Amino acid sequence: MAFEVRPLTKNFGAEVHGIDLSEALDRETVAEIEALWRDNVVVLFKRQVLTEPQLIRFTNTLGQAEAISRTDILSPYHPEVAYMSNFRYLDGRTIGAFADDKDVGWHSDQTFRPKPATGAILYGVEVPPEGGDVSFANQYLAYERLSPEIRGKIEGRTGIFSYRKRLERFNPGELKDSIDKMKQTPDVPHPLVLTNPISGRKAIYADPNTLASIEGYDQAESDAIIEALVEAATHPDVVYRHKSHPGDVLMWDNGCSLHRREGVDNGSPRLMKRTTFHLPKEKYALPY
Ligand SMILES: [Fe+2]
Repeated sequence: MAFEVRPLTKNFGAEVHGIDLSEALDRETVAEIEALWRDNVVVLFKRQVLTEPQLIRFTNTLGQAEAISRTDILSPYHPEVAYMSNFRYLDGRTIGAFADDKDVGWHSDQTFRPKPATGAILYGVEVPPEGGDVSFANQYLAYERLSPEIRGKIEGRTGIFSYRKRLERFNPGELKDSIDKMKQTPDVPHPLVLTNPISGRKAIYADPNTLASIEGYDQAESDAIIEALVEAATHPDVVYRHKSHPGDVLMWDNGCSLHRREGVDNGSPRLMKRTTFHLPKEKYALPY
């Protein structure tokens, strides 16, 4: 299938025109999308109109869509689809996650899990005219920014990723009520450098919200290294900021990127649909 690609920034990111994701894609087209994604980390498809089964079908051409365990943010129709929205049901319950209007800081999804689903797709159905921009930081480029000294310190090292740290940063109130949840979510180790098996490029894997320490260093040394990693990981030269429009389908790889979201204008309706998916280790940089 012939399609057109435009760069999102001078450094990375691809915007695709001429592919209709509501249709089943042939193998060659999927391979071209995969190659584009591998090089660009973030791929954007404009002006898409997708039912939930079509969104799930596209997701499953790239990996294995995951059924989401948080039932409060689920689509009532398909467990593979989560809602991000400020809508409410008639009984007052919020529809989906992030119903509040606050910004969400730099992070990579699911790093507190032993086997994170690193693929993610966000489909904008109803998007406010202002606010809610999503930014992405390319962790391959971030790795290239590290000094040889810091690279040497993290090569082959394992980080300890902590759900507790995330709760403390995002929601201290929730922490008090979350002892049971934390017991079910113990700290997990992940490598701090991930390598794409096809390109051989190396990416920093350091979610600022969960990376609590580095094995083999005391806390002060860990903190100093983590500070250097986060500085490189979020440097403006490795960031693309996306202004969402209805019909945007944005896909990113959590194994080689961080993302954040600006505050949302809750005076306007917002409904985004998201899938998360496990990617094959033969093609992608995975932390497990
Ligand atoms: Fe996220």
